[in-house]
Amino acid sequence: MSGAATTDRQEPLASSKSEAATPIGIASTKIKPDVFTIQERATMTDAATNDVAERFATLHEFIPAARKKLTDDKWDYMIGGAETETTLKRNRLALDSLGFRPRVLRDVSNVDCSGHLLGKKLRIPVMLAPVGSIQRFDPAGSAAVARATGGFGVAQMVSSVSEPGLEATAAAAKGMKVFQLYVRGDDAWVENIIDRATAAGYDAFAFTVDVAIYSRRERDITKRAFMRTPADAAAQRFQAALSWPQIKRFRQRCKLPIIIKGIQTAEDAIIACDHGVDGIYVTNHGGRQLDHGRGTVDILQDVVNAVRGRAEIIVDGGFCRGTDIIKGIALGANAVSIGRLYLYGLAAAGQAGVHRVLELLEAEVKIGLGLLGATSFAELDKSCLQTVAPVTTPHVFSAFPLLEITEQLRGKY
Ligand SMILES: Cc1cc2nc3c(=O)[nH]c(=O)nc-3n(C[C@H](O)[C@H](O)[C@H](O)COP(=O)(O)O)c2cc1C
Repeated sequence: MSGAATTDRQEPLASSKSEAATPIGIASTKIKPDVFTIQERATMTDAATNDVAERFATLHEFIPAARKKLTDDKWDYMIGGAETETTLKRNRLALDSLGFRPRVLRDVSNVDCSGHLLGKKLRIPVMLAPVGSIQRFDPAGSAAVARATGGFGVAQMVSSVSEPGLEATAAAAKGMKVFQLYVRGDDAWVENIIDRATAAGYDAFAFTVDVAIYSRRERDITKRAFMRTPADAAAQRFQAALSWPQIKRFRQRCKLPIIIKGIQTAEDAIIACDHGVDGIYVTNHGGRQLDHGRGTVDILQDVVNAVRGRAEIIVDGGFCRGTDIIKGIALGANAVSIGRLYLYGLAAAGQAGVHRVLELLEAEVKIGLGLLGATSFAELDKSCLQTVAPVTTPHVFSAFPLLEITEQLRGKY
């Protein structure tokens, strides 16, 4: 008996061997094939998307295409982190240190990948993270992202330091949109922006709070690229001085849900809840601020336990695959945010590239949920996960091992 039990425990590790047989089994049964055909051809939304869908059949294919379009300066601005980039790598390490415990024989012929955030339904529980100077990657900047997220059905958080700016981006956005602010003025300055965001139709307002001090991103500094000016330093003083009493004041003033982006401890999550914050956004800024931080899925578990449902939770940091999204939601996040992943799509193919990234991510989510034995995210909790040894050395592209092993791509990053 003990021998049989040992064999059972090993089965999930051996499952890749039986994957080839799965489509044959599907074809000969009554199960609807939608989960599987999506791999072959995603739903086309317009001519541009159709073309991009032909060019990009996997997520990793966007990376060399984006690299070709960008100068070294822009590329390093996009992919880089602070100092030793340890925090950036730990985001991936933490995700890779979670393995799945799939359940079987649960009729997964219909899988619903949708989610909800702050009362809004999302096609997949994903938000596109705020990115400053996003126009470096596509001239249409955050408006291109707004059109892609609105067309696809996920949320967008718009950076206050991106173009074409608060109102023009809102005008392009049909879907859920959140405005994210870096504080660059006094309280009256902030309140004016809150009023503008409310008038422009944003669904929520976010303060990023992990940038009290500018970090040192050595990829940029070494090339003397995108250096801070004295004016930047002067404006940054308002962000450095930001504190909880101001959040209380803005909470009272703002009619929109308020999100605090940059929570990294259970203690601060509880303080945020005590201040009436609606959304806790667990992030370490994609490893671009404090170096030697923890991976965000490790932080997420502390925060979920501390918040106990008093606020909704968003998480980001290294989420690149459908299985990553599933891990974040299973651990208790309401939505997972992606940063660099959609920037590869934006740089490679503009709005249609972002849309295509989302299509491929959705396909991966659907497959992941079905293979876990779940027909929706509601059926998952952290019992589908356990701690495992990671099998890859973490780095910014380690979710895409084909970049390393495909001969023709080698050496291009
Ligand atoms: C190029 C770049 C610019 C960013 N600009 C902002 C910003 O303006 N505001 C902000 O709150 N976070 C900003 N971030 C952080 C992202 O919102 C997000 O937290 C992070 O990218 C998530 O990690 P990931 O890229 O590994 O998915 C930026 C990230 C990148 C890569």
